[in-house]
Amino acid sequence: MKFAVIGHPIKHSLSPVMHQANFEALGRDDSYEALSIPPKHFHLIKEIMAEKEIDGFNITIPHKERIIPYLDAMDAHAKTIGAINTVKIEDGKWIGYNTDGIGYVQGLKNVYPNLKEARILLIGAGGASKGLAAALNEAADHTLSVANRTMSRFDNWDLKVHTLTLEEAEKQLGDFDIVINTTPAGMSENQDVVIALDHLAPDTLVSDIVYIPYKTPILKLAEAKGNPIYNGLDMFVNQGAESFKIWTGETADTKAMKNTVLQQLQRRD
Ligand code: ATR
Repeated sequence: MKFAVIGHPIKHSLSPVMHQANFEALGRDDSYEALSIPPKHFHLIKEIMAEKEIDGFNITIPHKERIIPYLDAMDAHAKTIGAINTVKIEDGKWIGYNTDGIGYVQGLKNVYPNLKEARILLIGAGGASKGLAAALNEAADHTLSVANRTMSRFDNWDLKVHTLTLEEAEKQLGDFDIVINTTPAGMSENQDVVIALDHLAPDTLVSDIVYIPYKTPILKLAEAKGNPIYNGLDMFVNQGAESFKIWTGETADTKAMKNTVLQQLQRRD
């Protein structure tokens, strides 16, 4: 089968090598390529996929919402989120899914097994946050808290969550067992931490959905305080594995996928 990831820019994506590692581990003859599609060429998406005979593809920044009008259907979870990272093409029909949040929660359960009882704070209210919120709402009993710089961002949220300003979140930080940064603040090493961690409780797990850099500023700060930390690498691997399952019905070799990504990251250092 033939798969792809679309984005812009996409040159540095590790998705092709990660999926290739899975195909090899399972002895499959599939292919997976990265396609750079700038927003101004997005209207050609159907022609591009048909010409390349693609069976399924991933979508990354900045097209996760732009793809929606081109779909024939969306699964219920993706509809709640309003963003798509996986498309399956079957008999010419395009079906949209979102595996980001599920991928993150699968990994989180391994480092925080008692997720059901955790009090969780998400920072950020963009597409990535919404994906995590939908998956965490299903996995945890407590109502999720979400903090954002701009409160009007919550206007189009129909998920049941407590909303907070960043200032309120800083003050109430001690009330949470898990704090997850979904904002791009900190993607570059020299950026500031999105909220002050002064009131962080000693055992609170601090997480970031980014894995390049491997330890973002908020993770470094939390680690320096002696807190457990968790980055976005498992989320990346698991969202890919879930996409593969949607496309093929098969279970991916996540170990082979993760090892390959780790090797690539070491090579880049
Ligand atoms: P994504 O799809 O990756 O979530 P997005 O939809 O553009 O991207 O959302 C980015 C999120 O990060 C938003 O919650 C944004 O806050 P605003 O709604 O106030 O814009 C947040 N964000 C980005 N840069 C930030 C910064 N420097 N400090 C705090 N929040 C930031």
